[in-house]
Amino acid sequence: MFSKATSNTQTTPGKDVLDGSLPDTPKLIHGGNYIKEGRDSTKSTCLIFSPKEEDSVGALAKYLQLFSKHEVNLLRIESRSSVRQSNVYEFMVDCAPGGNLNAVIENLRAECSYFSIISRNYNDNKETVPWFPRRIRDLDKFANQILSYGNELDSDHPGFTDPVYRQRRKYFADLAYNYRHGQPISRVEYTKEEIDTWGVVFRNLTKLYPKYACKEHNHVFPLLIENCGYREDNIPQLEDISNFLKDCTGFTLRPVAGLLSSRDFLAGLAFRVFHSTQYIRHGSKPLYTPEPDICHEVLGHVPLFADPSFAQFCQVVGMASLGAPDDYIEKLATCFWFTVEYGICRQNGELKAYGAGLLSSFGELEYCLSSKPELRSFEPAKTALQKYPITEYQPVYFVAEDFEDAKQKMIKFAESIPRKFGVRYDAYTQSINIIDSKHQIEDLVYNVNQEVQILMDALKKLKQ
Ligand SMILES: [Fe+2]
Repeated sequence: MFSKATSNTQTTPGKDVLDGSLPDTPKLIHGGNYIKEGRDSTKSTCLIFSPKEEDSVGALAKYLQLFSKHEVNLLRIESRSSVRQSNVYEFMVDCAPGGNLNAVIENLRAECSYFSIISRNYNDNKETVPWFPRRIRDLDKFANQILSYGNELDSDHPGFTDPVYRQRRKYFADLAYNYRHGQPISRVEYTKEEIDTWGVVFRNLTKLYPKYACKEHNHVFPLLIENCGYREDNIPQLEDISNFLKDCTGFTLRPVAGLLSSRDFLAGLAFRVFHSTQYIRHGSKPLYTPEPDICHEVLGHVPLFADPSFAQFCQVVGMASLGAPDDYIEKLATCFWFTVEYGICRQNGELKAYGAGLLSSFGELEYCLSSKPELRSFEPAKTALQKYPITEYQPVYFVAEDFEDAKQKMIKFAESIPRKFGVRYDAYTQSINIIDSKHQIEDLVYNVNQEVQILMDALKKLKQ
């Protein structure tokens, strides 16, 4: 669930800070994931470096002079044993904005045996990299940053004057608000009225899927019936669906209490996490909803997240969003809108719907594949600029050749985003690696090399 508004105003909760003094016992912290955050990591630059062996005595004093010379203030200094080399210490420093940080970085790169930028604020040239989650559990912070709580309904919402419905919406919003990464998603006992509403939507849409839905959707749907309790008389549970998706593509669902900013919503996709609503539309209008609800999420979005190629496409969009400037977030959100929400693709010479907004809309699913709307080819740079209505049928749809083609185009588009570092998702630790040093690239090349060795070995065995 995301809104078109963008936001980069996230703050990081304060944590303990060592004000320039070294701890008595150096700390051994394995992995960048466990580095303590500074007082405000959105405004500081965190560096790690190891002195050269010959510099080991009095090294810190030498490096502190370097910061002083270039007028860079330090918020925190920490020393610890290096996990890369035995008997070597490394220093982690949190630099405040200001001073000539570029000069310090250049010097450290040249003079240290190891150097890495953990998080960076490009204040030196008036550019600030917006905060983005580095670990999957950072997504917990989004719960406090929703733009509106789920029980706040507009006056034209079908449930606006229904106190029972509003109470129910508050119940769902509270469930999501209190959800934390790693917990199972609460199972909900849906009321008879809610199940009846679901039944109407399910019955009507499943009649249309064979003709209008893309082959990936039609392939996965029976599996959801078999494994996740998709039935006319049963609203499936997000926890069961999330487990199913995890087995298929590593995607998981996370309940969300209200509207997220586009930036936060897209960042979730970088971790293969989809923020999903759990409530259902008002029973008075079963074939209409002014906002995403569980019908939209589980009938429209979920089947495609089980497809490896589509899952990868979504992650590419999410990765591109991390640390991107606001205007590019807007462009990525627009691309998301015209693909994941309202995308059409070509399959065996026919047009089929793969966007969740289409696959969960009884009327628009037929309309989008009629001859009425305008169809254009999906070209991210152009699609990203297209304006669109939110509450009525789309006048323009963009057609992708297939998900692979759409993914390659998005990767190309992502290259145009002004960002001074690369990002890579580490599936083992479910965290984002920022790649902006030679050492990291060397490590990655080594890992890729190992993978290639495994493949070469497998190929050799197949040939035998
Ligand atoms: Fe959606």
